[in-house]
Amino acid sequence: MSLRELLKDKLQEEKLLLVPKGFEVIGDIAILNLPPPLYDEKHLIAQALVSHSKNVKVVLLKKNKLAGEKRTAEFEILIGDRTATIHKENDCLFNVDIARTYFTGKLYFERSRIAGEVKDDEEILVLFCGVGPFLIPIAKKKKVNIIGLEKNPFACALFRKNAELNHIDADIIIGDANSMNNLFKKDFDRIVMPTPYGQDHFLSLARPLLKPGGTVHFYTFKKDFEISHFKRVLEELGWHIDFYRDCGSVAPRVKRYVFDIHAIE
Ligand SMILES: C[S@@+](CC[C@H](N)C(=O)[O-])C[C@H]1O[C@@H](n2cnc3c(N)ncnc32)[C@H](O)[C@@H]1O
Repeated sequence: MSLRELLKDKLQEEKLLLVPKGFEVIGDIAILNLPPPLYDEKHLIAQALVSHSKNVKVVLLKKNKLAGEKRTAEFEILIGDRTATIHKENDCLFNVDIARTYFTGKLYFERSRIAGEVKDDEEILVLFCGVGPFLIPIAKKKKVNIIGLEKNPFACALFRKNAELNHIDADIIIGDANSMNNLFKKDFDRIVMPTPYGQDHFLSLARPLLKPGGTVHFYTFKKDFEISHFKRVLEELGWHIDFYRDCGSVAPRVKRYVFDIHAIE
């Protein structure tokens, strides 16, 4: 049942129309994204949500958009007393703190797809690795040398906890991807780049770290009409596009895309 249906007899028609169709659940935390005219009703909406979703123990109201380098937002706790939880995805468990680290469960398919592409013995770098949702499933399924880079120290601390929780062996470096060419002294067969919004320049920085024939999984945010131009730009920069797909909307008309590419020698 949708949130709107749940609230049918509890809200006036004009307010009901403003209720979002869905909400994201991470672990046992539900995240409500309400327009300000519904703020007076926020507790009523949160109660309706928990009464219907037995696995939800905490309800957070997202107060603004993701911002800053950490890609985090401000949240108000409507039900419960925490912003931390454990999320299960791709047979792995992840400690997450929604207020202090970036995390979305919407990329579970992509993370599983990338882990499926990896071959044993690869050297892999995961940039912007956060609490580990791309890196840990790869390390769990394949025999690889894998390393992550992340700037948010709190995300790094959760990453280490998650590596232990999932019994995997992986290194993480706390550092700035702008310095990646000084941080790594070897090349990689595969570089995974869940790049922050609007930071496409990191792709050129990653290129010297790629072995000949190596693959980059490059995530970027684009409007549909920008894709043909972006494909031309990639080709002009000497990248061959092996595959690309739309990974879903992140804002009105803006989608996350992934491009699997390799450098033309
Ligand atoms: C879009 S999130 C992706 C996080 C994670 N890979 C995931 O899928 O949940 C981007 C991550 O990059 C980190 N970040 C942002 N700028 C960075 C930089 N210059 N160097 C290293 N990490 C950075 C943020 O802290 C955040 O965790």
